[in-house]
Amino acid sequence: MVPSPHAPAAVAPPKHFLQFTDFTRDEIGHVLERTRWIKERFKRYELYQPLRDRTLAMVFEKASTRTRVSFEAGMFQLGGIAINLNRGDTQLSRGEPIEDVARVISRMVDVVMIRTFEQSIIERFAAHSRVPVINGLTNEYHPCQILADIYTYVEHRGDIAGRTVAWVGDGNNMCNTWIQAAAVLGFTVHVATPVGYAIDDAKGSPYRAHYRTFADPMEACRGVDLVTTDVWTSMGFEAEDAARRTAFAEWMVDPAMMREAHPDALFMHCLPAHRGEEVAPEVIDGPQSVVWDEAENRLHAQKALLEYLVCGRVDGTD
Ligand code: CP
Ligand code: NVA
Repeated sequence: MVPSPHAPAAVAPPKHFLQFTDFTRDEIGHVLERTRWIKERFKRYELYQPLRDRTLAMVFEKASTRTRVSFEAGMFQLGGIAINLNRGDTQLSRGEPIEDVARVISRMVDVVMIRTFEQSIIERFAAHSRVPVINGLTNEYHPCQILADIYTYVEHRGDIAGRTVAWVGDGNNMCNTWIQAAAVLGFTVHVATPVGYAIDDAKGSPYRAHYRTFADPMEACRGVDLVTTDVWTSMGFEAEDAARRTAFAEWMVDPAMMREAHPDALFMHCLPAHRGEEVAPEVIDGPQSVVWDEAENRLHAQKALLEYLVCGRVDGTD
């Protein structure tokens, strides 16, 4: 029986997933294994509802397609429900402190997912929450996406430990999270960013042994097992769009870049994608691309994450 976070007696502080490094290698391994099991059941159309009567609150301060659908559908499939809160519809837009929102919401639901701006916002929320909080994307990190990406790599190619991933583009939330994942799981990231868009040293430096920086994206892609990129302008940075278009003009992942990678290399993109900007159509729609599996795996990986955070370690199989 899982202890209720809503019982009158004080309970232990909840476990959160605010950054990839909040989980150990063993915990990530467990969630990946549960992802496989949950996905297989889903494919057989078999009910698996460990979260009956449980509620997820989703707080969106930025737009979303995949995160919204995967969490809402996933929660429903696990037997629970999801409540969607867009910033504009809540008292957050009228200045209610995030700490108060956390105190209130977490007395009513079992788990919270937030997509917001600064990482400090989600950390403040989590510090005042009685229930687990999941980072559904901040300016700094996108751990749910990288969880799905790692699962997708494992599904197609096996263990990612010891492999090399090339990051081509902005030193953004996705790039920071790939580097964290490399440190947790034991692989290397080749980071190629235009001048002025490098990763923030404060975020990268604890993981220095797990990434190398490159001025030339072709060089970064040489011999790697996976090439990945993202939009030139992330949500919240729209005012910089014109400057970014100039700075990133030569930074499209194209067939020539893919030819530098290992012949067996995969291509990933968290989506939404802009064909002809950060990725050539022949790459994203080509044979090395696994972007549709990657997007689908958000559903399965987050169901495993929800199961772990709400129910603890479930090892049961049928
Ligand atoms: N990749 C991703 O997080 O997509 P959405 O912005 O559509 O949720
Ligand atoms: N880096 C992008 C990812 C979108 C899923 C952003 O933050 O907008």
